[in-house]
Amino acid sequence: MFRKLLIRSALVVLGVLALIQVLPYGRAHDTPPILKEPAWDCAATRELARRACFDCHSNETRWPWYAHVAPVSWLVQHDVEEGRSKLNFSEWSRPQHEADEAEEVVREGEMPPYAYVALHSSAHLTAQETLQLAQGLARTLGSRGERRELTKADEDDAEAHAER
Ligand code: HEC
Repeated sequence: MFRKLLIRSALVVLGVLALIQVLPYGRAHDTPPILKEPAWDCAATRELARRACFDCHSNETRWPWYAHVAPVSWLVQHDVEEGRSKLNFSEWSRPQHEADEAEEVVREGEMPPYAYVALHSSAHLTAQETLQLAQGLARTLGSRGERRELTKADEDDAEAHAER
């Protein structure tokens, strides 16, 4: 009696899992073109950000195999869409209003999200790397407290825009 119920429940669960695979959400897995990146203060900052942030905050998302399986795919899709909308390191050609919060969220351990790091060991940052990334982001993007001074590259960029 109990066994029958167990088997029946398992079949229902499997059936639902199979059914939700055909829903269209969560399968886009797009990697839009890289338009423009911020003027990184150094290559090491970019590399740390690539490891810990780019999957959700750039157009260079590495979609894992389980991102193809609902319902996990829905969570992944949602994270990437929301992450990119808040901050996209590949679209520095448009305003990135939350950029100056990046230092703080890294310093406070809010980003990268804990559940993500648990599944992606390469995104794990040591205490020293966390500090290094926070400082690098502050130099690259400014922090809420103090704005970064304009670099030569920024000035050239502004000039190029003005000339157009
Ligand atoms: C697993 C996906 C994921 C990763 C990896 C990730 N983020 Fe986020 N991030 C999000 C999502 C989703 C949001 C919006 C919702 C929220 O605030 O939690 C967000 C929001 C933000 C914001 C906006 C401020 C805020 O708190 O809403 C900043 C700044 C940010 N992330 C920076 C980073 C940085 C820097 C890294 C790398 C160290 C990183 N994130 C890694 C998904 C991610």
